[in-house]
Amino acid sequence: MTDVRALQQLAIDIAREAGELARLRRSEGVRIAATKSAVADIVTEADREVERLIRNRLAEARPGDGFLGEESGAERGIGDLTWVVDPIDGTVNYAYGIPSYAVSIAAVAGEPDPATWLALVGVVFNPVTGELFHAARGEGAWLGEERLAVNAEPSAAGALLATGFGYDPATHVGDLARVARVMPLARDLRRAGAASLDFAFVAAGRLDGYFERGLHPWDHAAGALLVTEAGGMVGGAGIGDTPNRDLTVASGPGLFAALSAAAKGH
Ligand code: IPD
Repeated sequence: MTDVRALQQLAIDIAREAGELARLRRSEGVRIAATKSAVADIVTEADREVERLIRNRLAEARPGDGFLGEESGAERGIGDLTWVVDPIDGTVNYAYGIPSYAVSIAAVAGEPDPATWLALVGVVFNPVTGELFHAARGEGAWLGEERLAVNAEPSAAGALLATGFGYDPATHVGDLARVARVMPLARDLRRAGAASLDFAFVAAGRLDGYFERGLHPWDHAAGALLVTEAGGMVGGAGIGDTPNRDLTVASGPGLFAALSAAAKGH
């Protein structure tokens, strides 16, 4: 049987070490190593180095597991357990010195298949604030020692929401139309630039809801578990779906149906 608590502690220890490395490299100056699909889709040398560190630590501790990382893709094949890793989520913030980025590490049972998955363990660590969000399936979501709970209902004045914009310019018209549809539900809207922290903030009740099209597994793997373990709901293009590339919606239960419907446009 999988010892979920041991997996969680491993993910926490590695996220802390990786986050400290990211912060150190940031203090030494950042070099953008490459742009990927678009000008906003960048990778720094630190992203690669931090992912290598995480991959190596996991390989030492659990050589039989699979690994899926933002920078290296799928490696070591897919085992009974796959680690899904974003070494620096919020890379554009990181590159510009905005202190809102995080290491995101999740353990997913089997192959990370968008149709079936929910992580067993998820950790999101911002090394600048020192905030460590963690969850294990069935064990709740936590910020350090503090148990997290989503906002069951947004305030009557409207919901504080967050979103993100895809890197592909062809999707921007659709992204903005989605924002316009959702705004009647909102008190205000944030585009903070790190999906894992957007999920963590929904879990912590700092945001009422979050929606974005185009997320990859490493963007939502850990964060989605934080939200569900904090009593929230996470869906995709269909209500009750899992997060996927078409649409991800996360919120407390009171807002979920309305936010999903507005985000989808029907
Ligand atoms: C990105 C950030 C951003 C979100 C993008 C992600 P990265 O991750 O989470 O907030 O809008 O969809 O790809 O590229 O910085 O790891």
